[in-house]
Amino acid sequence: MDIKISASILNADVNRLEQEIASVSDSVDWIHVDVMDNHFVPNLSFGTNVLESLAKKKIKPLDIHLMIENPDKWALDFVAAGADSVTFHYEAAEDPTKIIKEIHALKSRVGLAIKPNTSLADVKEFLSDIDVLLVMTVEPGFGGQAFMNKMLDKVREARSITNDKNLKMWIQVDGGIGLQTIEQAAQAGADFIVVGSAAFSTADPGKAMQDLRELAVKSLSI
Ligand code: DX5
Ligand code: ZN
Repeated sequence: MDIKISASILNADVNRLEQEIASVSDSVDWIHVDVMDNHFVPNLSFGTNVLESLAKKKIKPLDIHLMIENPDKWALDFVAAGADSVTFHYEAAEDPTKIIKEIHALKSRVGLAIKPNTSLADVKEFLSDIDVLLVMTVEPGFGGQAFMNKMLDKVREARSITNDKNLKMWIQVDGGIGLQTIEQAAQAGADFIVVGSAAFSTADPGKAMQDLRELAVKSLSI
């Protein structure tokens, strides 16, 4: 299993976003951009304009996490703005199959996200068609929350299905990942790991990302 780290800029200092991203760019594989509409989650964040500007800089592939109502209407705008992967929430989608097909048609990767109270059984039918399954390990909406240990069962179940059926999808975890939790997440089978405040709240986010990656990789060799 090849560990990929995605840096969530939600809790980065937006006043110096470019430097914040530069500080982690050698240590991470993707940049994770959280999009919130104050309806699906009680918070507002970035829109397509921020994404367009980041995409132009071509620093890292952009992993977009849509926490919005009606992704059926909006998802393609994010592909057009420069996303390399667009993940939408199962709970918000009217027709997940249609969105998956539309995003793929524009040559972007596509992810399906599930909130803590949504079970894997609800999305089983889509697993062979997606590139990423995002198992939320906090209630979506804010950075800096505590990791929900119970979600590890869902990650294990997803890993076992992925291996049994030889699926190509990556298993992403997002929320509360840090020094205390990254090993458990990797051992449970997560290979696409979002890190936000655990790195951006430190004096050296790049070093923090590297340390986290090392911990995850080491935990797999035990
Ligand atoms: C929360 C967002 C996360 C968040 C993660 O709803 O989806 O991407 O920024 O932040 P940390 O790593 O601080 O939990
Ligand atoms: Zn996210």
